[in-house]
Amino acid sequence: MKIFLASDHGGFELKKRILEYLETKCEKEIPKQVRDDKRNKEYELEDVGCVDTQSCDYPIFGRKLAEKVVANPGTRGIVVCGSGVGISIAANKVHGARCVLANSIELAHLGRLHNGANILAMGERTKFVDAPIKIVDEFLSTEEDMSERHVRRREQLDEM
Ligand code: RB5
Repeated sequence: MKIFLASDHGGFELKKRILEYLETKCEKEIPKQVRDDKRNKEYELEDVGCVDTQSCDYPIFGRKLAEKVVANPGTRGIVVCGSGVGISIAANKVHGARCVLANSIELAHLGRLHNGANILAMGERTKFVDAPIKIVDEFLSTEEDMSERHVRRREQLDEM
C-alpha cells in the first residue's frame, strides 16, 4: 500500500518519527530473500513536505496530500500539524478526501470502519490518549465496514 505523508512545521517532528517507524516496519516485515524487491514491501512511502521546521502554511500541505490520495485510489495519507485541526480541515476540503483527526486508537479505528477515512490527521503539540505509532498502525490495518448503511453514508459524504 502506498502511503503519503505531509506536515507543516508544527507537525514536522512527529511526521519524521512516523516515517522512520514505517520505514523500519517495511524492512522488518520483508523476508530476507525478497528484501530488495520493492513490490514485496508492505508500504511504499512518499513524503510530500514540508522538509524542515521552518514556518510554513498547513493548508498547502493538507491540500497537496489529499489531492495525491484522491488521485491514487487505494492509497492512504497521514497529515500532521501542531493541533491536527488546520491540516485536517485543509485535507477535507479536497473532494473525495475523508480525513479523521485522531488522538486515540478508537478514533482511528472508527474513522476507518464507519467513515472509510483515507487520511489520518494528528496534532504533534496535543495530548494523545494512545501512542501516535499505535494510532497509525490502527489506521493502516483497519478495513472499512461494508455494511449497506455505512456505504450509503460514505456515498452521501462523497456527493457533497
Ligand atoms: C502552526 O503554528 C499551527 O497553527 C499549526 O501547526 C496548526 O496547529 C494549525 O491548525
